[in-house]
Amino acid sequence: MDCDKCDGSGFIFDEEARKAYPCECRPARLARKRAAAVAGRIPKAYRGVSFEREPLPSLERSHPHVVRAVRRYCDTITERTQAGRGMWFTGPPGTGKTTLAMLISKRAMEADRTVAIYSLPRLLAMLRETFRDDATHSLSQLIDMLCSVDLLHIDDVGAEQTSPWVLEQLYTVVNTRYEEQRSIIVTTNLIDIAAEQPDQELREQIGDRTVSRLYEMCGDPLPMFGADRRLEAQFNLPEPVPTSTTPDPFDDSQWDERPSGYGRSR
Ligand SMILES: Nc1ncnc2c1ncn2[C@@H]1O[C@H](COP(=O)(O)OP(=O)(O)O)[C@@H](O)[C@H]1O
Ligand SMILES: [Mg+2]
Repeated sequence: MDCDKCDGSGFIFDEEARKAYPCECRPARLARKRAAAVAGRIPKAYRGVSFEREPLPSLERSHPHVVRAVRRYCDTITERTQAGRGMWFTGPPGTGKTTLAMLISKRAMEADRTVAIYSLPRLLAMLRETFRDDATHSLSQLIDMLCSVDLLHIDDVGAEQTSPWVLEQLYTVVNTRYEEQRSIIVTTNLIDIAAEQPDQELREQIGDRTVSRLYEMCGDPLPMFGADRRLEAQFNLPEPVPTSTTPDPFDDSQWDERPSGYGRSR
C-alpha cells in the first residue's frame, strides 16, 4: 500500500529538523499489520474454486438461489465487507458449504481485503492456547487480531468441545466485529431446516447471544442440501485440520506449504 506522503514507510521525515513524524496513513498501516498476523490462506483443496469450475455449475443447478446470493455478494464484495455484511451456509456434510464460503474468501482477498480463515475447532484451540506458558500472543492480542481482519471466515461450526470460557471469548470476537461492522462468513451443519426449531442445536452449541449476532450480521442462513458429494470426490479430499495440537496459533502450515502473498502487510 503505497502512500504519496510517506512513500509507504508510515513516517514523514523532516530533513531539516532531522525528525520523523507519523504519517496519517500509519494507523491504517498498523491495523493492516495486526490483521496480517492472522490472515489465512485458502486451503489447497479449495484454491481453484471459481464460478466457472465444478462444482459451481452443478451447485448453481441444484441451489440457484444460494449461488445467486453468493454471486451478488462477490460482485459487491468491497461494499459488503465495508458495511460488515456477512453470509452463512448450513446443511449436512459434503453439500458445498465450504466451497461457497471459500469462493467468497478468495474474492475478498482478490479485492484486497484482509481475510482470516479458521475452522471453529482451531479458532477455539487458539483462544485456549493463549494461556500456555510459551504462548506467542496474549488473549487480548489474539482477539484484537481476529477483530482487525476485514473478513473472518469461520468454517465448520459443529459439535466441538467447548467451555463457558471459550464461548465467552467467541462471543467477544463476534460481538466486537458486529459493533465495528466487520464481516463474518460461517459454515455450519448444526441448523436443521426440517426441525421445528432449526437453530436449536446451534444455539446449544455456541450460545444464544453469538447466534443472534450472526443473524444480525449474516441474515438467514443459506440452506444447502443433498447427498454427501465428498464421497464422490475422494480424489479431492481436503487435508484434515488438527484441532488442538497446534503449539503456535499463528502457524498456518496445515493450510498450505507456500505463502500465497494474500493478506500480507505491504
Ligand atoms: N453439488 C456438487 N457437485 C459435485 N461436487 C460437489 C458438490 N458439492 C460439493 N462437491 C464436492 O464435495 C466436496 C465437499 O464439498 P464441501 O464444500 O467441502 O462440503 P461441505 O463444506 O458442505 O461439507 C468437495 O470436493 C466439493 O468439490
Ligand atoms: Mg465444510
